[in-house]
Amino acid sequence: MRGALHDKLAGGEGISLRKGRGFAFEGEARMEEWTPVRLIGMSGSLRRESNSNAVLETLRERFARRARMRICDLASIPPYNQDLEGEKRPPEVKVLLKAIAESDGVVLCAPEFNHSIPGVLKNALDWASRPAFASVMAYKPVAVMATSEGALGGTRCLEHLRTSLASMLARIALAREVIITSAGAKIRDGRLADPVALGFACGAVEALLREILLWRAFDSSNRWAAQ
Ligand SMILES: Cc1cc2nc3c(=O)[nH]c(=O)nc-3n(C[C@H](O)[C@H](O)[C@H](O)COP(=O)(O)O)c2cc1C
Repeated sequence: MRGALHDKLAGGEGISLRKGRGFAFEGEARMEEWTPVRLIGMSGSLRRESNSNAVLETLRERFARRARMRICDLASIPPYNQDLEGEKRPPEVKVLLKAIAESDGVVLCAPEFNHSIPGVLKNALDWASRPAFASVMAYKPVAVMATSEGALGGTRCLEHLRTSLASMLARIALAREVIITSAGAKIRDGRLADPVALGFACGAVEALLREILLWRAFDSSNRWAAQ
C-alpha cells in the first residue's frame, strides 16, 4: 500500500483527489467521485493590467483540469484592525477567510513593492493570520512567487513573503524559487508567455499540488486508522 502511494506521488499523476475514504489504488475496483483541488490565488496588485494577476490567470488555466483556482480581488478588504476579530470581522474579510479555509492551498504571486510585500496582500494575510497559530493559514499549503518590472526585483518580496508565512505557520511548498523579472515583457495578451518563467511558475504549483496530495493521503489514512 505504501509503495503504491509513493509511486503515485513520484509520478505526479492524478493530483485531483477523491472524495470520501482516501484513494483507490491500482487494481482496486471501487471508484469514488473525484474532488478537484481547490486553490485560492492572490497577488495584492489591484492594477487592471497587473503582471502578477496575469501570471495567476495563466496558472489557473494551465491547471484547470486538475485544480480549481479562484483568484481573489483584495480591493474590498479593509485595513486590519485588531478590535475587529472573530465575529466582529468585516463581512468582506469573513468571505475571504472562509474561502481560504475551504481551499486546499493558496497560490501567492506578488509584485515587489518598495523591496517588500505589497501592502494590500500583507493586509489580507494579516487578517488571515488570526487567531495566531490557529488561523486559516496555519498549516495551509502555499506556493509563492514574485514579479517585478525590473531586472533585479522580486527577491526581497519573496523573502519577506516567506518570513511572513512562516510566522503564521503556513506550509510553503518546496520548489525552485519563482521570481519573474522584467515581467511586463513576458506577458502577452494577459498571459505569461515566456516559457522559462512559465516553467518555474508551473513547477511551484506542481509542488503545491503534491503537498496537498500528501496531506490528503495522510488525513485519509488517519480516518481509516480511527475507524
Ligand atoms: C509603490 C511601488 C513600489 C515598487 N517597488 C518596487 C521594488 O521595490 N522593486 C521592484 O522590482 N519593483 C518595484 N515596483 C515596480 C512593480 O514591481 C511594478 O510596477 C509591477 O508591474 C507591479 O505589479 P503588477 O504588474 O502585478 O501590478 C514598485 C511599484 C510600485 C507602484
